[in-house]
Amino acid sequence: MGIKKNNKIKIYCKQKRPLVCLTAYNKHMATILDPFCDLLLVGDSLAMVLYGETSTNNVSLQTMIEHGKSVVKGCSKSIIIVDMPKGTYEVSAIVALKNAKKILKETGCDGVKLEGGVKISHTIKLLVKNKIPVMGHIGLMPQQVKHPKNYKVKGRSLDEQELIINDLKAVEKAGAFSVVIEAVTEKLANKLTKLSKIKTIGIGASKKCDGQILVTEDLLGFFSKNAKFVKKYADISGFISKAIKKFKSDVIKRKFPSKKNVY
Ligand code: KIV
Repeated sequence: MGIKKNNKIKIYCKQKRPLVCLTAYNKHMATILDPFCDLLLVGDSLAMVLYGETSTNNVSLQTMIEHGKSVVKGCSKSIIIVDMPKGTYEVSAIVALKNAKKILKETGCDGVKLEGGVKISHTIKLLVKNKIPVMGHIGLMPQQVKHPKNYKVKGRSLDEQELIINDLKAVEKAGAFSVVIEAVTEKLANKLTKLSKIKTIGIGASKKCDGQILVTEDLLGFFSKNAKFVKKYADISGFISKAIKKFKSDVIKRKFPSKKNVY
């Protein structure tokens, strides 16, 4: 039997070593990642990674639910968090609660992630009051980026630093169990982590955060272009090309299917 949902989050919050977090959008990837991770995020980045969109701004609740269901099938030990897509939680706390309940009921995931700080703290509070584990997301918030050129590092000015620190405090006070800090200066990420009583998970932030997250396909090398904060740990697109080249050659030379592959 797997670890109970609440216990998984308690273990995560008490973990002393840095937390390992990655995105997963389906059962097969979740099965591979689960043994190594503390948390899997069904991120709305799937809009760009799987659906070829240029932003995360047009993902439906139903799409997130279908991918959440798939990830649950491949995961037994990591916490599974689903992104609430743009337009499903900002209107009102009541709408957010209805949608968050739907996501968790239909997927079996452990909690939801919402982008925003001060502005949505009342919503986080209501979700937590209704026993829905919430992960916050502050700093660069992709759902608010209207043009690809505007993916810019946050926290260079004192005013921006103050806003982000306030966002952290609001998310923490509202009861989130953890918070993603995206694309802020290293100095600010360090300060946020020092101030924070909840686990900070960095992406383009600092190694001093309580944990790190990346989009799995980015670190595997699916794409030729990446943000500076991505480290490629593999060249999966090169690996796939090599295999497909061999397949093509086998098909053309009538080497495939061989005796082993026919009935
Ligand atoms: O959507 C996503 O994948 C995310 C992570 C990059 C933090 O929000």
